[in-house]
Amino acid sequence: MIRTALTELLGIRYPVVQAAMGYVSGPRLAAAVSDAGGLGLIASATMSLAELEKAIEETAGRTAGPFGVNLRADAPDAAERVRLIVARRVPVASFAQAPKPELIATLKDAGVVTIASIGARRHAEKAAGWGIDAVIATGGEGGGHVGAVPTSLLVPQVAAAVDIPVIAAGGFFDGRSLVAALAWGAAGIAMGTRFLLTSDSPVAGVVKRAYLASDVTGTLVTSRADGVPHRLLRTPLVERLDRAGAAGRLRGVVRSARSASAFRRASGQTWPELIREGRAMRRGSGLTWGQVLMAANTPVLLRAAMVDGRPDLGLMSSGQVAGLITDLPSCAELIDSIMAGAQQRLAALGELAGPAATAAGPATAPG
Ligand SMILES: Cc1cc2nc3c(=O)[nH]c(=O)nc-3n(C[C@H](O)[C@H](O)[C@H](O)COP(=O)(O)O)c2cc1C
Repeated sequence: MIRTALTELLGIRYPVVQAAMGYVSGPRLAAAVSDAGGLGLIASATMSLAELEKAIEETAGRTAGPFGVNLRADAPDAAERVRLIVARRVPVASFAQAPKPELIATLKDAGVVTIASIGARRHAEKAAGWGIDAVIATGGEGGGHVGAVPTSLLVPQVAAAVDIPVIAAGGFFDGRSLVAALAWGAAGIAMGTRFLLTSDSPVAGVVKRAYLASDVTGTLVTSRADGVPHRLLRTPLVERLDRAGAAGRLRGVVRSARSASAFRRASGQTWPELIREGRAMRRGSGLTWGQVLMAANTPVLLRAAMVDGRPDLGLMSSGQVAGLITDLPSCAELIDSIMAGAQQRLAALGELAGPAATAAGPATAPG
């Protein structure tokens, strides 16, 4: 058993979190992870409020373990989503960026554990100051929206700066990498790409095969998909998008406007809601309207791959770690092998440290 501040905080068996993935981490995947002793997170940014309510109910029906909901703090209906989380007694709320202190307080008063994803030390310090219970520090090799600092530098930097549990993310996939995270001062790991590549993930086989076929240089970070740096599987479509000049970008904006319209229809959002969300996004991120329009396009393109099973037509967020993954275990098999690998690695490191260190007994993991 590896007990850390994270397993204690969340009441989970293993210090392993499934990172939120839009269109991927719904009830089936989140419940499989929670059932296997980790923490599953439902990604709700791509769900309507009604869909989220259904997803919470289904997840609770599939597992007795704790699970969480990931949401955008700047979503126009964030307060309603928080009310739903409290009413449905969801144990954990995780945020793509730190929410305002009032929202954290509302959740904490109701006994909900709060987690924020961060990509820079100052964001971790700010969130900790606002009362957040834990942070997920995601390094630049991670999938989806990423910062510039690699995991190997961000995690020790953040762990030294805050005294709440730090969950390391970006590039984790096995027992060795869990031990590395603990050595950097983290209290556990969160994984996206690795959990996408399991038999419990709902993504189509043809899409999983595209990930499995990629090597460590098979991803790229581009801001041309949705206006902010986004790590994606390198496909002909993504390379075209990344190379597009001004004329191509203009065509992209026109296409984005059409996609925004399609997304609005698919998500049941009204135009005023979509525009309100766009305004909030602009305020929060300093994006231009062109970039906001591009961002509105992204869900449609992600959906084409993740839901419709069309890797040729869609975008696939991916960590560099896809290049090291070759199999599709179940979540239970994956977590068991991570924990067995971590124990082996800790024992080997104990031997390396010599008899004095091993005689001192099993080390208590930091965090
Ligand atoms: C397919 C995919 C979809 C993602 N969707 C979201 C999302 O909807 N919201 C979010 O906050 N992060 C999202 N992420 C980022 C993950 O939560 C996490 O930060 C990342 O996967 C960690 O790096 P790793 O893939 O190397 O494990 C996504 C990542 C992937 C791979």
